[in-house]
Amino acid sequence: MESLLIKGGVPLHGDVVISGAKNAVLPIMAAALLTREPCVIRRVPDLSDVRFMGQILTWLGAEVKMEPGTIRICARKIKGSGDYDLVRKMRGSICIMGPLLGRLRKATVSLPGGCVIGARPINLHLKGFEALGAKIRIERGYVQAQARKLVGAPMFLGGRAGSTVLGTANVMMAATLAEGVTVIESAACEPEIVDLANFLNAMGARIAGAGSPTVTITGVKELHGAEHEVIPDRIEAATYAIAAAVTNGEVTLHGARADHMRAVIDKLNEAGVAVERRGASMTVRRNGRLKAVDVTTLPYAGFPTDVQAQFMALMAVTPGISIITERIFESRFMHVSELTRLGADIEIEGPSAIIKGGKPLSGAPVMASDLRASAALVLAGLAARGTTQVNRVYHLDRGYERMDEKLRKLGARVQRIEES
Ligand code: EPZ
Repeated sequence: MESLLIKGGVPLHGDVVISGAKNAVLPIMAAALLTREPCVIRRVPDLSDVRFMGQILTWLGAEVKMEPGTIRICARKIKGSGDYDLVRKMRGSICIMGPLLGRLRKATVSLPGGCVIGARPINLHLKGFEALGAKIRIERGYVQAQARKLVGAPMFLGGRAGSTVLGTANVMMAATLAEGVTVIESAACEPEIVDLANFLNAMGARIAGAGSPTVTITGVKELHGAEHEVIPDRIEAATYAIAAAVTNGEVTLHGARADHMRAVIDKLNEAGVAVERRGASMTVRRNGRLKAVDVTTLPYAGFPTDVQAQFMALMAVTPGISIITERIFESRFMHVSELTRLGADIEIEGPSAIIKGGKPLSGAPVMASDLRASAALVLAGLAARGTTQVNRVYHLDRGYERMDEKLRKLGARVQRIEES
């Protein structure tokens, strides 16, 4: 297994190009299953999760051609049943269920187990499929949705933590080929949902209201092929913005969409970080002393849970006390114990972490546990004195395109090594 070896203490300076959004491209790839015609997806990031989704679509019988930055998918003939054990390996692939149900009226996938950040249930996905007329069967660790026909219906998809992103994506995709009108109340409002709806509408779907809590889908007979450029990754952009702040450098993010990052920019400003927008780029640097601020993660347009760990790394080097409360997942503090190994002073109280920031961090070997926790450990290592070795960096490669290369271009002393 590979690790990242980071010699910290270097302020980052320069330019970084933001890649396409992982959490947009995964459901958009799945959406290509809804038509027998070819689809072309551009600004695709080179991530292991994307390659894995390509394997799953190939497994289902689709033709998948990956070139640098572009994927061509043609799902002329696909199989609707069969064991997709692969879903268990990558939770995000649960979003093949909606397209399979919409296209073939049947979908069987292995139940995506929980993961380190939480139980990750799919009850709301299944509630939406049932509202469309599907019968759900769960046996031997597999879930099957089957429908003689899909009929549009009104439904409420709000759950224990508000909306569900992939649940909204799944039901929206199935509803495009249902008879009649579907109205999803308490739909997820994330930009990735809007991007998916734009792609589906380019395929001939009739979706209105994406990005708002009420999405209306008027079913059509069939969808045709389309081309689409994926939105930039707002979580990657937030991660590099925090890298600039945590190392007291100055970094310009190219291609980032400030209108997708308002909560993050607002919190960075409050914490004493300037974010200057120049057209399609933004330059991030400290604006005087850092200030300790409190954060609570919420569904979009609130502060994203996917930036919680990275922001905690910034608060660890900020003098003062800050409280970070995680409202989306039940155990998304795996990074806390590793950050304390680097000298951070953090205590967990239920859904909140209390950070007594400002003590200097010192490098140490740390273990990545999930995608965003590993990003937080890299950020802390960039700020720490001495050397930090982040092990199990495959977690990072799931969601960050060539992160070590991008950081080296910004002056960071980071190299990828075989774990000793
Ligand atoms: C998406 O996961 C993202 N993944 C996650 O990003 C992100 O953290 C999450 O949305 C929240 O923004 C992809 O898009 C591939 P949810 P998703 O359904 O859709 C509960 C990353 O780091 N819930 O919005 O699976 C659930 O337990 C990843 O890139 C139910 O109760 O998340 C959680 O508490 C991590 N029942 C909350 O809702 C359901 O049926 C939000 O989950 C579904 C979800």
